[in-house]
Amino acid sequence: MTAAYPITHHEYDVVVVGAGGAGLRATVGLSQAGLRTANLTKVFPTRSHTVAAQGGISAALGNMGQDDWRWHMYDTIKGSDWLGDQDAIQYMCREAIPAIIELEHWGVPFSRTPEGKIYQRPFGGMTTHYGEGTAQRTCAAADRTGHAMLHALYQQSLKNKAEFFIEYFALDLLTDDDGSVKGVLAWDLATGQLHRFRAQQVILATGGYGRAYFSATSAHTCTGDGNAMALRAGIPLQDMEFVQFHPTGIYGAGCLITEGARGEGGFLTNSKGERFMERYAPNRKDLASRDVVSRSMTIEIREGRGVGAEADHIHLHLEHLDPADLHKRLPGISETAKIFAGVDVTKEPIPVLPTVHYNMGGIPANFYGEVVTCTDGQNDTIIPGLMAVGEAACVSVHGANRLGSNSLLDLVVFGRAAALRAAQLVKPGTSHGTISTASEEKAIARFDALRNAKGPRGTASLRLEMQKTMQNHAAVFRTSDSLNEGLVKIKKAVESFADIGVSDRSMVWNSDLMETLELDNLLGQALLTVASAQNRKESRGAHAHEDFPDRGDQEWQKHTLAWRSNNTDVNIGYRPVHMVTLDDEAEVVPPQKRTY
Ligand code: FUM
Repeated sequence: MTAAYPITHHEYDVVVVGAGGAGLRATVGLSQAGLRTANLTKVFPTRSHTVAAQGGISAALGNMGQDDWRWHMYDTIKGSDWLGDQDAIQYMCREAIPAIIELEHWGVPFSRTPEGKIYQRPFGGMTTHYGEGTAQRTCAAADRTGHAMLHALYQQSLKNKAEFFIEYFALDLLTDDDGSVKGVLAWDLATGQLHRFRAQQVILATGGYGRAYFSATSAHTCTGDGNAMALRAGIPLQDMEFVQFHPTGIYGAGCLITEGARGEGGFLTNSKGERFMERYAPNRKDLASRDVVSRSMTIEIREGRGVGAEADHIHLHLEHLDPADLHKRLPGISETAKIFAGVDVTKEPIPVLPTVHYNMGGIPANFYGEVVTCTDGQNDTIIPGLMAVGEAACVSVHGANRLGSNSLLDLVVFGRAAALRAAQLVKPGTSHGTISTASEEKAIARFDALRNAKGPRGTASLRLEMQKTMQNHAAVFRTSDSLNEGLVKIKKAVESFADIGVSDRSMVWNSDLMETLELDNLLGQALLTVASAQNRKESRGAHAHEDFPDRGDQEWQKHTLAWRSNNTDVNIGYRPVHMVTLDDEAEVVPPQKRTY
């Protein structure tokens, strides 16, 4: 018998969950379109994880040399290892240019060239002339680009009268009997009240689930809450096996050192002082795509050429660069290196290691932001009332490997697209009708059960078990043995959640309960990540399977869909990759050998 919880009722045209770059860009567009919009966020908007995005946002502006959005599109398709949907990639790369101009007009303080244009730096995998030259395509606000964007987008949301519910933790989607989404149940962390938000469309912009791993550049808040809410509503998650390791997380601390550091001339060396990327990627070297650089670093360490007392990391050099340039272009990471590695970047190398950074997988969505599922392996069905944007979504523009600086772009392009689509679908002020109470009762019962959980197992210890399992078994390289063993271990962790105990029963600022709800969310995503990886018998992008070292386009050029069928069982299906373009402004890029 579930305890009675008083619930405060709200009605909006659209509810956005999450106030990072994607959630805020959607919120601005919705409120500009005259839709009554609520934004629910578990942290203050400008503390969302977008704040940590450093190096920049890609767009073929051509401010620093010739560029073309078609070259950007080609690079993104190649970067995705041909798993990205080419119509969506065309949309993103073409829309990138007006998206940057819009951000500029909204007050993002981009760095400048001497002529006063937006400064652009080189980033991994970004080329000109379809792979021939190096593109300077990544628009930067020093190395604090995400921070600058978040502030501008929050200000625009406020200017347009969006309503914010800050430090509200979204618990579950509220659905009708037919599975269509009708709203969200949320917990106000400050007052302890539960709130029901009715909406014609719910937009999930809840970010990734990097904290399923032990070492991640992701904030502790990155627990994929929206992904888990979708899963509990019976919606599959797509391409969860593709987890990006950023080459340069600080060794031991995990903090990000931007790829912009290599864009500005930094390079990696092993214990012999060799610039080893010259061997693995003779053309692009340190600016090959992230999956390639992370694998190369891992091989160097494995073969005994790592640096440090335990030969278990790599050096990133910036000390040859002009200190004035470091101060101007990379002030944030200079400070981070000092604080977290004790390194003065003008004098000594930074110790770095590939570190979990981004989830290419997430909630399957089309390029309008509508959430889709596919049960027959061919045709998409739209889930009425639900949209997803940003890292929570899998559109899929990043396929098996995202290029650096395409993430901030994805946020604003698809945040805007979702707002435009919602404005087509929703007439402001439409009445909400009745709501099925079954899904609400289920959501409250889950919350109540965890709040009163009296088992012997502590949240922190189970979280650590999950994180270590993911780190050891679903890493840069995988094998059949590591994945089989990992699946057994992660299922055991999922089962152990039944033994969880929460010591604090209060409703107000109960971090023990919140972390337990987050762990519940993480466990489901960890399970799907390992199960999806175990099923994919090829190597592609971030999924480097040593027993199947080649890419197998014939059988495997398809998106994985994974449903959680009961506690530890996963059903896997597939969905075709879109090998089409939107119009004749661009051509489909057929699969090719991928070298850098
Ligand atoms: O390296 C970076 O600055 C990260 C950028 C990104 O992930 O897009």
